[in-house]
Amino acid sequence: MSGGQNRMPGAPAPSGAAKAAGRDAGTVAPVITIDGPTASGKGTVAHRVATALGFGVLDSGALYRLTALAVLQCGVDPTDVVALEQVARTLQVVFHPNGVTLAGAEASDLIRQEHVGNLASRLAPNPGVRAALLERQRAFRRPPGLVADGRDMGTIVFPDAPLKIFLVADVRARAERRCKQLIEKGISANLDDLLRDMRERDARDMGRAVAPLVAAKDAHVVDSSNLTIDQTVQAILDLWSPARLDGG
Ligand code: DC
Repeated sequence: MSGGQNRMPGAPAPSGAAKAAGRDAGTVAPVITIDGPTASGKGTVAHRVATALGFGVLDSGALYRLTALAVLQCGVDPTDVVALEQVARTLQVVFHPNGVTLAGAEASDLIRQEHVGNLASRLAPNPGVRAALLERQRAFRRPPGLVADGRDMGTIVFPDAPLKIFLVADVRARAERRCKQLIEKGISANLDDLLRDMRERDARDMGRAVAPLVAAKDAHVVDSSNLTIDQTVQAILDLWSPARLDGG
């Protein structure tokens, strides 16, 4: 376990964090946060844990990817910070059981393209973009509970979550998984290119000044390099009951 709390400019101080994280509106729903690097299996594991507990899911990376897709579709200059924040603030997003729409058009597959993910990673350090997406993410916190996956779920978005997971896996294992996923979807993929992109993205996500990818102080680190999805899900469910009993 490593790392600590990182606050973005304008984010609430830790003492007010629970309030700002959705606990003041009569919606004291528990949250399990799952943070980790790209292709660590967060998304699949989050869905499986949520299904097992009957909780909702927040795929926060999808919001950054949707922002990137909207930037590409609108022809916005990715270096124009004011325009980027405006795009993030005005995203018209609807999550549905099979994916997500952007401005009414199906976007589930489009946001999974590697170039969209890479642009999302390049836009994500922008404080205006992060601030624009913050309340949108917190609004997912509803009874009976939420499993939220991303980079800063445990540190910034839901700092009072009763169970925080930092899911890691060896970069080669992650690149191989991503390669297999893309090929299964009929998208061409090259392992060496993926490995290089993944290392670059990890460095960007961990090295940025604002809300970097880092384990919350109170996160449990789970290494899934040698675990199946079932084993990873079970490891998190095993941690959930004691975490809840501890006052979450
Ligand atoms: O989890 P993902 O690969 O779908 O996320 C795409 C990018 O979005 C990721 O490289 C960094 C950014 N992101 C972020 O900065 N904070 C989050 N909570 C989730 C994603």
